[in-house]
Amino acid sequence: MSYELTVIPGDGIGQEVVPAAIRVLETLDVDFEFHEADAGDHVNAETGEALPQETYELAASTDATLFGAAGETAADVILPLREAVGSFVNVRPAKAYPGVEAVRPETDLVFLRENTEGVYSGHEDRLTEDVSTLTRVVTESASRQLAEYACEFVDERETDGFTVVHKANVMRETDGLFRDTVTAVADDHGVETDEVLMDAFATHVCLDPEQFDVVVCPNLAGDVLSDLAAGLVGGLGLLPSANVGPDRGLFEPVHGTAPDIAGEGMANPAAAILSAALMVEYLGHDEEGAAVRTAVEDVLENGPRTPDLGGDASTEDVTSAVVDRLSN
Ligand code: NAI
Ligand code: MG
Repeated sequence: MSYELTVIPGDGIGQEVVPAAIRVLETLDVDFEFHEADAGDHVNAETGEALPQETYELAASTDATLFGAAGETAADVILPLREAVGSFVNVRPAKAYPGVEAVRPETDLVFLRENTEGVYSGHEDRLTEDVSTLTRVVTESASRQLAEYACEFVDERETDGFTVVHKANVMRETDGLFRDTVTAVADDHGVETDEVLMDAFATHVCLDPEQFDVVVCPNLAGDVLSDLAAGLVGGLGLLPSANVGPDRGLFEPVHGTAPDIAGEGMANPAAAILSAALMVEYLGHDEEGAAVRTAVEDVLENGPRTPDLGGDASTEDVTSAVVDRLSN
């Protein structure tokens, strides 16, 4: 079986780390047909449109999409792309690795972030010069779909339950609905849950990340708290993500275009390669996905390492090392 993949490097270091991930995919015993597509600031500058219709349609029709990053147009690119693949959950593992200096080396958790609504629903208005507003949307159906995925996820991961992060003490209607729906679905499935208010979570995860395993949260909270967790494990160059939909998915590093290092060939490709590993697993090839992850872990532990991790290796050196580990 051959898989059709949409490949969207985007802007900045997306142009460097996505080709690195493709090199790794090419070493696997899985057949991919790659369809390269364009999106991001550079396309917007040329055409006035950050996400060409043909890119959207490719993402909406292929088996999976690998995306790098977009710059100032990120919201115009990534939000429609998540919609194109019908994604309802963004899976973001945050794990510290042996050999990588981390603030909290014991961190090993996974965020399951609601991926379609909350404050990212796009309902913003400028009412007067002085006043702008935002409508926060939470639905029972999206919360339920996320919770059902979370129940399956903890089952597969063989953990007892998950933590629900919310702020229902203040946003009683929206996060109240989120919390009540998620905990009710978990109860129905016999999955244990505990609840932590999102501001308190930020403190607890810094002081004692080991107490958390699977964390289910609304859209914005998941965005912010997963970047916070990136800080605990050694930086954004390490965090992959999977936007999972029922029939297809979109896989992307958590980081952006890193304009401060773009073009230097020194970006850490680990996040993009680990995103490709999540994609391979999503497509049903667990063994190959695990092999890629093991190869990345081995390189993180033994080097070479890019400058964000204290080394002086290039993106290409690290990628070649991962490819070598996989070929041996
Ligand atoms: P960023 O993630 O691009 O960079 C933050 C810091 O982390 C920088 O110092 C950067 O050098 C470092 N970093 C990130 N990834 C790295 C890697 N793979 N290797 C080594 N160092 C790495 O976030 P920032 O600076 O807030 O945003 C830059 C641009 O990216 C903005 O235009 C923003 O809109 C966009 N962005 C796009 C995203 C997406 O397309 N999904 C997500 C986040 C930001
Ligand atoms: Mg983010």
